[in-house]
Amino acid sequence: MLVCRDPGKGEEARRAIARESGNHAVELLIADLASQGAIRAVARRFRERHDRLHLLVNNAGAHIQERRLGPDGIELNLAVNHLAGAVNLGFGVASVRYLRHER
Ligand SMILES: NC(=O)c1ccc[n+]([C@@H]2O[C@H](COP(=O)([O-])OP(=O)(O)OC[C@H]3O[C@@H](n4cnc5c(N)ncnc54)[C@H](OP(=O)(O)O)[C@@H]3O)[C@@H](O)[C@H]2O)c1
Repeated sequence: MLVCRDPGKGEEARRAIARESGNHAVELLIADLASQGAIRAVARRFRERHDRLHLLVNNAGAHIQERRLGPDGIELNLAVNHLAGAVNLGFGVASVRYLRHER
């Protein structure tokens, strides 16, 4: 499963992975990882479709020179490079309900 923010680029990547791997079950979910609400929505959709996650790769990263805030009012480098990874870890070790209640 891929999580990308740009539907066009994400679909292009999904197709390339499916083509090159021969695995046509590759799925795409869309989320802006600067938004914790979007991450939680993706987590919910993931858990609707799957009951476990074997491996999580937090690859998305931002390197923004000027101070900019994301949709939650959090500085973008912090939101994408650090908080998104921490929230994403919840995919594998806790339920979305746990994340929502324990914060
Ligand atoms: N390149 C290096 O030398 C290097 C060295 C050390 C560590 N890293 C780390 O490796 C990772 C990838 O680096 P890279 O050089 O491939 O970076 P990149 O070319 O700038 O790609 C960053 C990726 O992160 C995605 N992304 C950025 N903000 C996002 C957001 N808010 N929501 C969802 N996706 C978002 C981008 O999506 P879009 O395509 O939609 O823009 C893009 O696909 C980063 O975490 C980076 O810090 C890179």
